[in-house]
Amino acid sequence: MSEQVHHPLFARLWPRVARQLDRSGGTDHRRELVAGLEGRVIEIGAGEGSNFAHYPTTVTDVLAVEPEAHLRRLAEQRAARLDGRIRVVDGVAERLPAESDSFDAAVVSLVLCSVRDQPAALEEIRRVLRPGGRLRFFEHVAAPPATAHRWLQQLLDSTLWPQVAGGCHTGRDTLANIRRSGLRLTQLERLRFPATRLPVPTSPHIRGEALV
Ligand SMILES: C[S@@+](CC[C@H](N)C(=O)[O-])C[C@H]1O[C@@H](n2cnc3c(N)ncnc32)[C@H](O)[C@@H]1O
Repeated sequence: MSEQVHHPLFARLWPRVARQLDRSGGTDHRRELVAGLEGRVIEIGAGEGSNFAHYPTTVTDVLAVEPEAHLRRLAEQRAARLDGRIRVVDGVAERLPAESDSFDAAVVSLVLCSVRDQPAALEEIRRVLRPGGRLRFFEHVAAPPATAHRWLQQLLDSTLWPQVAGGCHTGRDTLANIRRSGLRLTQLERLRFPATRLPVPTSPHIRGEALV
């Protein structure tokens, strides 16, 4: 399987979308996502580094893995403007460039929708976390079964969406895969984001924590 992630158009659009989402409440979700973390953290699919500024001072260092070249450059620039705790590297979730049992926490936000092999990515996350380590996640997920929303997600995922949105799928059952991964779910919040009056295809989200 190719490990290349090359989405030049999406990579140039995503920072604008991310900024818009952050203005609509995303910043608060990012802050919550990393609140209370300590020690060594691996962030997977870091994008342009929108979570970087929110890591608490109890985090000693962050290995930020980003496979898309343009986004990785933006993340490197952002990390360079911060306090030296964040190192940005190339790599994919399905084969993390990290030793086993080497992190206290792993962070994913809006990434498991896009990886090529979600079970493999979760297995890798488990591998690099130390015993008792924690995965923090903020992800958009499948709408409830047998709803118009779910049907729309299935239609989009089998047609244009993954091509225009950098490999993203609107309706993955990420929660089921986290449960199947052997990680122990300890916190789960379901939310609609962005909280617009009319739902958008990606509005069902989950945020939470799972332990090794
Ligand atoms: C929607 S963006 C989210 C970026 C960032 N996590 C955030 O919260 O703004 C999806 C990210 O996943 C990355 N990605 C796609 N496939 C990946 C893979 N197989 N492994 C790791 N990251 C991947 C993309 O390059 C992109 O940075």
